Amino acid sequence: MATISKLKRRLLLLRSSSQIRYALTYVLITAVVLVFLNVYTASTTRDMMFRSKEVSLQGKVQLVVSSLAGLERLSGDNVAQVIALLGDLDANRVTVTDATGKAVYDSLTKDNATGRMILFSEVVTALQGNVVFYCVYDGAALESRACMPIYNGSDQLIGSVYLMEYDTDLGAVIAALEMNLVRISLVLGTAIVLFSILFALIFSRRMRLILDSIQLLREGEYTHRIALWGHDEVGVLAEEFNKLTERLRTSEATRQQFVSDASHELKTPLASIKLLSDSILQNEMDMDTVREFVGDIGNEADRLTRIAQKLLELNRLEDAPKEDFVVMEPGPVVEKAVRLLTPLAQLRQIRLETKLDPDCTVVTRGDDIYQMAFNLVENAIKYNVDGGYLGVFLQRKGEDVVLIVEDSGIGIPEESLPYVFDRFYRVDKARSRQAGGSGLGLSIVHDLVERNYGTVTVEQREEGGTRFTLTFPFFGMEEET
Ligand SMILES: Nc1ncnc2c1ncn2[C@@H]1O[C@H](COP(=O)(O)OP(=O)(O)O)[C@@H](O)[C@H]1O
Ligand SMILES: [Mg+2]
Repeated sequence: MATISKLKRRLLLLRSSSQIRYALTYVLITAVVLVFLNVYTASTTRDMMFRSKEVSLQGKVQLVVSSLAGLERLSGDNVAQVIALLGDLDANRVTVTDATGKAVYDSLTKDNATGRMILFSEVVTALQGNVVFYCVYDGAALESRACMPIYNGSDQLIGSVYLMEYDTDLGAVIAALEMNLVRISLVLGTAIVLFSILFALIFSRRMRLILDSIQLLREGEYTHRIALWGHDEVGVLAEEFNKLTERLRTSEATRQQFVSDASHELKTPLASIKLLSDSILQNEMDMDTVREFVGDIGNEADRLTRIAQKLLELNRLEDAPKEDFVVMEPGPVVEKAVRLLTPLAQLRQIRLETKLDPDCTVVTRGDDIYQMAFNLVENAIKYNVDGGYLGVFLQRKGEDVVLIVEDSGIGIPEESLPYVFDRFYRVDKARSRQAGGSGLGLSIVHDLVERNYGTVTVEQREEGGTRFTLTFPFFGMEEET
């Protein structure tokens, strides 16, 4: 059943295939052209041969006529004498009649008509004073007849000359020519039909391959790839399709990873909340412990809120209609973020060093610079040591604006450096959680940097600790003088 419906589908596809339609059109046009060429060539060659025959036959008849025109009357004897003088006329039959149409001379040995009335229409017409030529190709030979009236010296009609030629040589030439034409046309026609069908089949097969693949993709088969050869339009189409599928596959994989990571992240605080509330319900506790547990529940709830906020933030970066670009000086914005976090640094006696150069104009969207600075500085404080150091620097380097956030904190191990911008990645989960982290801060920074045409790098400081370096293109105004 399945194969039958598949076959039916293929036939339908083939019937509605544009390529088949083109092929049929080609075939039709070629057939018309070939037929026309055959008919035209054949009739032209025949015409040409007829005409040359006419010239040569008329010449011969004319010769006989002028030789006989000197005679007063035509009799069997004198005509035979004159014709004998003319030598070989190279004609199959020469007949001379008198004015009444009676043959006075006939070159035929068999069925000689001398003395009988000649009733050929050519002779009748010639005796009415007309010159007659008639030629026909019967498929084997070229049969031509010419007939002419004879006038004597006093312009009196005295008879007619009739000449007949049956040329098999020329007939064979015509036959061979026409045969060859037909043969060439047949070979050409067959070749065109075969190739048209072949190309149409190949084309529709390749198209079907692509169509089937699109169907598979629609059904969620992101790993499917089209194996198509060639660099023509169909090949390029297949290649583009493969690229598209690859993109869909990666984004689908990222999405699944993200969902699983996110639910995992959300599960931890929820489990804590559950555990804490169960303990309160099941155990006899004094009011202080209950208060402490409820406080912990509150903290976990806060953490859930923070995660939700960051997820929303990431989502906004991906989907939201992009905010307008603004030309701005990052200095004051970075300073605002540092100022907001200074109390946190002071709490741990962290020495703060900032140097924010003016004239570092960049183009960014919304408050992206603030977000980046805040996340980096917050990390530099969170993952610092008591009495440590935090440096924030903004400077111009040629065509670039560079923002550096460095600290003398606990540092990031070499092997973790490539992953710190991944969603939910944390070097030390316990410490990050304790500090209220979600593992999303740096991935937000990364996305923000990207959408502002910048780059971000992270490295270990030689003196210990971490250094983040953000680079953006400098937006220079043309100075008018
Ligand atoms: N300045 C830093 N020093 C040491 N480790 C850092 C620093 N900044 C980030 N990290 C590491 O990278 C991880 C990811 O950072 P982030 O995405 O901001 O998540 P979070 O701060 O919420 O844990 C952190 O958990 C921490 O392990
Ligand atoms: Mg962080």
